Parts: sequence; C-alpha cells; structure tokens
Amino acid sequence: MKRYLVTGGAGFIGSNYIHYLLQKYGNEVHITNLDKLTYAGNLENLSAIEKESNYRFIKGDICDKDLVATLMPDIDIVVNFAAESHVDRSIGSPDDFIQTDVYGAFVLLEAARKSGVGKFIQISTDEVYGSILKGSFKETDVLEPSSPYSASKAGADRLAYSYYKTYGLPVVITRCSNNYGPYQYPEKLIPLFVTNAIEDKSLPIYGDGKNVRDWIYVVDHCDAIDFLISRGEDGEVYNVGGGNEMTNLDITDLILQELGKPASLKTFIADRLGHDRRYSVETEKIQQLGWQPSFSFVEAIKSTIQWYRENTAWWEKIKTGEYLEYYKSHYQHV
Ligand code: NAD
Ligand code: TYD
Repeated sequence: MKRYLVTGGAGFIGSNYIHYLLQKYGNEVHITNLDKLTYAGNLENLSAIEKESNYRFIKGDICDKDLVATLMPDIDIVVNFAAESHVDRSIGSPDDFIQTDVYGAFVLLEAARKSGVGKFIQISTDEVYGSILKGSFKETDVLEPSSPYSASKAGADRLAYSYYKTYGLPVVITRCSNNYGPYQYPEKLIPLFVTNAIEDKSLPIYGDGKNVRDWIYVVDHCDAIDFLISRGEDGEVYNVGGGNEMTNLDITDLILQELGKPASLKTFIADRLGHDRRYSVETEKIQQLGWQPSFSFVEAIKSTIQWYRENTAWWEKIKTGEYLEYYKSHYQHV
C-alpha cells in the first residue's frame, strides 16, 4: 500500500486528485490530506469520501514544522498542492503567498528529506515562465515570473529542485497550465463567469479580453501527476498542458452561449496589474514518456458548466461573507 501526503487536498485540484486516487486505486492507497482550510479550502469537496478508512483529514498548516515532522515518517509519496493560488489576491496582498508557497514548501521538503520519502511531487505552474507572445516554453527555458503568485511558485519550484540536486531527494516538478472543472473556487475566470452568468450578473473582463491561456480539464492534470509518480525521472521538470489555447473573450462567449445568456453581461474593466498576455507550454517531454490529455475541451467544458448549474448550493454558500468583501473591493467599478 502506498501512503500519500496530499497537501491542500481540500482545494480545487487537490480534492479532485484525492477523488481520482481513491477511484483508481481504492484500498491500495492511504491518503493523509493536510490542509489549513483557508478561504479556498472546502471539506464539502470531499464529503463523499470522508468516511473511507484509507483517508484521513488533518487540519493544519504546511508551515508548521512540528506537525509536518510528525506526519512525514508514515509517508511514501508527497504531492504538494497547498498554496495561495489567486494572482489577483497576490497583487493586493502578497504576504501569505511568500509564507505558504515558498516557506511552506521548504518545511515539507526538509521533513521529506529527513524521513526519506520515496517521491516528492512539487505542483508548480506554467506561470513561472511568464508571458510568451509567440511559440511555447520548454522546461529548460528561463523563468520570468511576473506576479507575486508566480514568483513565489518559481521560488518553490527551484527550491524543490535544489533538494534533488543537493540532497538527492526524489523530486519531480510539474508545470501545468490553467485547470477547469468541478470544485474550483469562484474567484477564478471560469467558475466566476459561469456562476455570475447563472445569476445574471456581469462578467468582468480585464483589459481587452485577448489574453490567452491554455486550458486543461482537472482530471487530466490529476492523471498526469499519477503518471509522473511512476514514470517521471527524479530531478526533472515536466510541462503539462491541455493543447487548448483560448482568449478570455472566447471563453466568455462560450459560457454565455452554453447558458443562453446575453452578450450584454460582458463588462470590460481595468486590466490586472502586470497581466501576462499569453501562457503557452511545449509538452513534448511528457508526450515522449507516453502521456497526453484524454478529455476533449468541448465536452469537458460543457460538463463543467453543467456541474455548476447542478451544484448551485455548493457555490452559493461560498459567495457570501469573506467572498463578498473581496468581490466588492476587487470589482468596485463593476
Ligand atoms: P486552491 O486555492 O483551490 O487550493 C489551495 C488549497 O491549499 C486550499 O484547500 C487551501 O486551504 C490550502 N492551503 C493554503 N495554504 C495552506 C497552508 N499554509 N497549509 C496547508 N494548506 C494550505 O488552489 P488550486 O487551484 O487547487 O491549486 C492547487 C495547486 O496547483 C497550487 O499549488 C497551484 O499553484 C497549482 N496550480 C494551479 C493551477 C490552476 O489552474 N488552478 C494550474 C497550475 C498549477
Ligand atoms: P485566472 O482564472 O485568475 O487565472 P490566471 O490569471 O492564473 O491565468 O484568470 C484567467 C484569465 O482571465 C486571466 O487572463 C485573467 C482573466 N480574468 C478576467 O478577465 N476577469 C476576471 O474577473 C478574472 C478572475 C480573470
């Protein structure tokens, strides 16, 4: 039985990953989910599996050295999702990003080194490369992160590498593009626009809406991580992408069309500071190993939109309290 420490497992990708692991491996895995339950952590994402005997939840901070040191000796594989993850919040208030994304990764790496875990997967992001107008970034390209979020992630990415190079810790680093799917906190583009459109609220598009992102279905990302745990080479970085680049305007139009809502909901607002124009990753390296995404964008985006339609209680509960405070101050001109 493989014993996993999944950090940030109550968030969007982490909770999808826990579902993925339990569906695929059942009792062959034991999962410890360490999550601080920040505004983005939500145990409802895991209510269907919370009573499984091979799953346990621990509410705690990855920066807590003592706690992490007590957990690590029972662990074979660490998958570090825990992070502050929203670019806009990192622009307004970078502190927690430096603390969790960089220092928290250090605490995990140090404990993993001391207890000798079998694999450490650092979930990095394509945003560490910065923006590219033409072509796509390879794993060997220079990192030029441009937001406090992506700079923090770049710090953790290279720190993880240093633990491979210096101490021989079996680290694998993934740099994935923008995920979409169920359980994504409705501050990110797709769930924000889908839920706002359902509520007939405006869709706040930054700048001219022509920024480009590559979109991957979250289950494909989970599958790539699983693939790299067994097939990835220690010390290596792997780009993971959906092969589906779209402008924000394209995404917005698709959402409005799918929900049968009017174009008048589109509202252009001031651009994000330092807004990266385009993200694009070259995925030849992971393809050569034998992995590629299996979900079609057309179908997976439809089923994602349908999920938000059917699970209004999940996001209506989120869109209150702290969320409304953030929303009002961030989108004050909408
Ligand atoms: P998320 O914000 O939905 O979830 C983050 C989770 O981490 C939450 O459950 C939160 O409670 C937890 N957390 C935050 N600080 C913590 C701390 N100090 N200790 C323990 N837990 C803490 O984020 P997400 O979109 O699921 O992203 C997960 C990871 O994937 C992040 O590392 C992110 O950088 C990376 N990533 C995300 C995307 C994307 O499109 N969402 C793409 C590439 C990489
Ligand atoms: P986001 O989901 O925040 O992901 P990231 O910035 O990490 O790629 O944003 C995706 C794109 O959508 C990005 O170009 C910013 C844009 N965007 C808007 O135009 N309006 C919004 O309200 C949000 C949240 C994002």
